[in-house]
Amino acid sequence: MNGWIIYNGALKFKKFHLLVESLVAESKKKGIQLEAIPNSELLPMFHSDGTQGLKSLRSLNEPDFIIFWDKDIYLAKHLEAMGYRLFNRRVAIENCDHKAYMHLQMAQDTIRVPKTIVGPFTFHQHELSGEYIDYIFEELGSEVILKEVFGSFGMQVYKFNNKEDLIHKMKELDGRDFILQEPIKSSFGRDIRVTIIGNQVIGGMKREFATDFRANITLGGRGELVELTEEQEKLALKAHRSLGLDFSGVDLLFDEDDRPIVCEVNSNVNYLSFEQVSGVNVSRLLLDYIVGEMP
Ligand SMILES: Nc1ncnc2c1ncn2[C@@H]1O[C@H](COP(=O)(O)OP(=O)(O)O)[C@@H](O)[C@H]1O
Ligand SMILES: [Mg+2]
Repeated sequence: MNGWIIYNGALKFKKFHLLVESLVAESKKKGIQLEAIPNSELLPMFHSDGTQGLKSLRSLNEPDFIIFWDKDIYLAKHLEAMGYRLFNRRVAIENCDHKAYMHLQMAQDTIRVPKTIVGPFTFHQHELSGEYIDYIFEELGSEVILKEVFGSFGMQVYKFNNKEDLIHKMKELDGRDFILQEPIKSSFGRDIRVTIIGNQVIGGMKREFATDFRANITLGGRGELVELTEEQEKLALKAHRSLGLDFSGVDLLFDEDDRPIVCEVNSNVNYLSFEQVSGVNVSRLLLDYIVGEMP
């Protein structure tokens, strides 16, 4: 069996490459030939006879499946139109990547999330009215969380306790889309990352960060394996299914009664930290799942 794993050629994070390497190594053990290909080495193409195709900078075997470890939505669409099966599917990646689309999809299945308002589409710097800003604080509370719709590792997630700073940030975004969200104070500095493959919960990792409301490991959060409650498992699975994912990492917050609320769902999930704390070989489970899905 031949497979490709497509990753982003521009991102130089070590964590990304380690994950790709781990999948390639596990594939070898299973007798699968998995080619690691940066998206920048593939050329989606339209020929002059009206057909579509794909060229690559090096010679590649025809894949039976593609692990799409990138957010190059155009490339994903192009490959699906050519008939390739992508893990995850393009629609799931596209919805997870965009925090407003993700909420829109989850609302179709009435999944519990923090109260969220989607910012208006603007052109470049556009100062929203004082009325708009007042309304945001009235609706969401004395503190407000702003998230750029495209963001990872908690790096595009900000918290504000006054109008001036929020207005300043909105200007700084210069037209980049955002959502505004109620802060779940009982969950500041802690959340749970649930790893799911197929429709099976693999496990949960509690993440804690003493000095920041964001619990992301990349920012400095500490991970610890936890036994998930039935309610946490159910909610995480519901979100995973709603978004149509093959594999995912669902982030759960804790409400005042420690009951779960979905923070976000990640399609391009880096499960290396979970592997470290759990000892579970997620790469192997993922490949087993993919093989099982093949006709
Ligand atoms: N509404 C919220 N209330 C409390 N904490 C939050 C809220 N939203 C996000 N967080 C914290 O910030 C972290 C990053 O937010 P998240 O939406 O997951 O963005 P990213 O995609 O960058 O990881 C979460 O893991 C959580 O710890
Ligand atoms: Mg997150």
